[in-house]
Formats: sequence, C-alpha cells, structure tokens
Amino acid sequence: RWAAAVGPRQVLLAEPRAFCAGVERAIEVVERALELHGAPVYVRKQIVHNSHVVADLASRGAVFVEELDEVPPGATVVFSAHGVAPAVWDQAGDRNLSVIDATCPLVEKVHAEARRFTARGDTVLLIGHAGHEEVDGTLGEAPGKIKLVESPADVAHLEVDDPQRVTYLMQTTLAVDEAEEVVDALRDRFPAVIGPGSADICYATSNRQNAIRRVAVEADVVLVVGSQNSANSRRLVDVTEREGVPAYLVGDVGEVEMSWLAGADTIGISAGASAPPTLVDELTQALSGLGHTTVGVRSVGAETISFHLPKELRRPAR
Ligand code: F3S
Repeated sequence: RWAAAVGPRQVLLAEPRAFCAGVERAIEVVERALELHGAPVYVRKQIVHNSHVVADLASRGAVFVEELDEVPPGATVVFSAHGVAPAVWDQAGDRNLSVIDATCPLVEKVHAEARRFTARGDTVLLIGHAGHEEVDGTLGEAPGKIKLVESPADVAHLEVDDPQRVTYLMQTTLAVDEAEEVVDALRDRFPAVIGPGSADICYATSNRQNAIRRVAVEADVVLVVGSQNSANSRRLVDVTEREGVPAYLVGDVGEVEMSWLAGADTIGISAGASAPPTLVDELTQALSGLGHTTVGVRSVGAETISFHLPKELRRPAR
C-alpha cells in the first residue's frame, strides 16, 4: 500500500510509550474476573480508552455498558481505570452488584485529595477537560464544592466562597505545560491558592510527553498510536505540534495516510498509555518494510512501576 512512498531513512521510537501500569492493571482485572467468575463480566464504560483493548476483551466475554442500569441485579461489574463518583458506588449498592474496582491508584489519589480538601472547607478547582470520565468521577466527590477549570480564560469567571481557602487539583492526563499556564492564572487571581504543582499529572503521562519531545527534536513527522477518545494520547499530539513538528493520532497502522510521510526522512513514533505495544510493533514493521530503514530509540528512562491487583482478585500465595 505504501510502495509508492519514498522509504523513510529512520524510525525513532519514544521510550516510554504505550501501556502504563494503571492500564495493565485494569486489563488484568477484567481478565482475572473472567477467569474467576466466567463470562459475562460487565464493565462500566470502556475499561481503558482504546478500541482494540475493548474489542479484545469483548470477544472473551466482557460486556461493556455505559451505565449500571444496563447490568442485571446481582451481577459482577468492573469499574474502569478512570474512576467513578461516589453516586455510582451507591447505585451499585442499590442494585446489589458485586463491584471490582479497576480505578487507577493514581486517579484514586486525586479523589482522596478532593475529599480531604473539600472536607476542610476549601473550594477545590479541578483543572481538566469537561466530559472526560475521570473528571466526572472526581467532580462527583463533592458536588458543588469542586469546580472545573479548563483553561486560563476560565479563571476570570470563577466564583469561590472564600478566596483564602482555594485548592487546585488536576486530571492525571493533562499536558504539563498547559496545566502550568492554568496554575499561573489561578495564582494571579487567588494568591493564597495551594495545590500539588503538577504532581497530579501521573508519571506515565509526563514521561510519555518528555520522551516524545526528545523524538520531535529529530523527527520530520510523528505518529502517535492511540484512540481518538484517549486524553493522554491527544496530549502527545499537542505536545509534538507545539514543538513545531506535524503529528497524527492513529488507531493502528491501517489509519496512516501515505501523504503524511512524503518527504519525511525521520519518522517519530509513540503511543498513548492506553495503546497496546503490539500496535506500535505493527506500525514499526510496516515502516521498516519500506526499505533502507534504521530503527532507533530515544529514551528518557525505563519505567519500573507496577500496581497490585485489587484484593479480591489476588491469587493465594503458594
Ligand atoms: Fe493511571 Fe496515569 Fe495510566 S493515571 S491509568 S498511570 S495514564
């Protein structure tokens, strides 16, 4: 299909890329639940924002639903990596569902901060993107006491009870530099504001952004593997474009347009935290098939973090 394109001379892989520890854990939760309970296992929302992952688990017996009223009373349901509001836990209790929680521990950390700060009387400002499931879940920790801030322009319109008691938190998958612009605007308006710096943005998000910047310095074009609804994948495209390099988000190798590669000597590749590494391998192989291609890696360090499974799914010690 790409035979007419002039072969790239170099493919550069950003490291780290693809699955993070929270996504690996969430997928394993569904796999273990299927092993233990048999199909069907219900999953509220996409377990992670990747259509390949969802299709694979669906083929093995996972049933994805949008809301809990689609789950038969008494059934087992998995909550996705993005977390849920307390109201969803209540609804699960009302329906007598048996819940296995695949919320990423780093999302749960932000929920815990939201509970702590609102409980002491602060107005919490959550920097994030409207409509994202993680944001809906965190806002739901204290409805009315947590307000969403999407951009520096939003800051002027914020109303808070006491400007001396304002805390900010962040969605875990923001672009670090954009989030800092919002924090600067908050500090201008509320000098007493306190918050986590950019520490709510998780290690996987910031590592992938740093790595793709390393690749962008040398690349003529960058391909990011990830689904369109994956926030952290979209931020990788944004970060690359801000470096002045064209970048495209592709679900898999089949979505790459030959015209994007025309004249490119060096093609950078990364993948969002919800994208399977096998999709990157397929893309790299297809590009290598164009002839005279070297494959290099630009690394900002390997990741070693992993998370335990929820207690109810751990295998007994031998
Ligand atoms: Fe968790 Fe960050 Fe991955 S919040 S699911 S480790 S992108």
